[in-house]
Amino acid sequence: MMAGFPQLRLRRLRQSETLRALVRENRIDVGDLIYPVFVVDGKGIRQEIDSMPGIFRYSPDQLSAEAEEVAKLKIPAVLLFGIPEHKDETGSSAYDPQGVVQKAIRAIKSAVPELLVVTDICLCEYTSHGHCGIVSNGVIDNDRTLPLLSSVALSHVEAGADIVAPSDMMDGRVKAIREALDDKGCQHIPILSYAAKYASAFYGPFREAAESAPQFGDRRSYQMDPPNVREALREVELDIAEGADIVMVKPALAYLDVIREVRNKFNHPLAAYNVSGEYAMVKAACQKGWLDERQVVLETLTAIKRAGADIVLTYHAKDAARWLQTV
Ligand code: PBG
Repeated sequence: MMAGFPQLRLRRLRQSETLRALVRENRIDVGDLIYPVFVVDGKGIRQEIDSMPGIFRYSPDQLSAEAEEVAKLKIPAVLLFGIPEHKDETGSSAYDPQGVVQKAIRAIKSAVPELLVVTDICLCEYTSHGHCGIVSNGVIDNDRTLPLLSSVALSHVEAGADIVAPSDMMDGRVKAIREALDDKGCQHIPILSYAAKYASAFYGPFREAAESAPQFGDRRSYQMDPPNVREALREVELDIAEGADIVMVKPALAYLDVIREVRNKFNHPLAAYNVSGEYAMVKAACQKGWLDERQVVLETLTAIKRAGADIVLTYHAKDAARWLQTV
């Protein structure tokens, strides 16, 4: 006999938290999280970002305490973004051994050696025009940008970075970075590539935080067109062929279908970036008392896992780590 109502009742397994936990299909774990950190040149700076309440810009000398807190919460990794003192046409502060990120890496690694330091590899925070590559005759010059990105990656690794994460969306950058690292004996350093990175309006607060808004035009000639999903699979396939060890989809929430497609087609570890605009929306609604922050954040992060991500980069990481210890 086919089981149906009244014999079959799906509510049976929802009766208690213990029972629900037993049949739970997906979980967010603190070990899945990467916490993005903004570092600014200078001393004694700990400055909150207006559109990202609870997120600060730190000068390198303030980082050891922050790194210790992150490690104590059992978050395995931070992702560093730099805001330099000096910007120019070629983003030269990005590959300066005395640059802000290089200083930050050394500060974190000497305070908490076991905390993984991932660094964002891009030029937009360092160029006077705010684009992610070199500009020649008003266009972003892909091939001239590649050696600069390789220099950035190398200088981060020389300062002690554990993983490099190119976010510029130039073609061929994973290959260029892999070759440059291997050439210098850094075969052991993994590349986390922002493989499917969309030209998204959800990066707004980040650009305020990192002072990286483009001074002319936009990023649509290099970041992906939001309506496309097949193209994301081509981007991921190419980055894997070029040597990416971990691939990323960014943003996360409006792109959960892309995360799922990538998960279904590839076996590489998959990261998803819960970006600044997604964070800002939740924080704003919670400040107004319109949403329950803890529940919304844990539901959101679990949804990103359910879509297929293994790793979630999120500004909520420290709060989530605290809540996960007490749920
Ligand atoms: C740098 C970069 C950006 C983000 C990560 N790396 C901004 C952009 O591409 O404009 C966005 C992160 C966020 O919004 O949280 N290219």
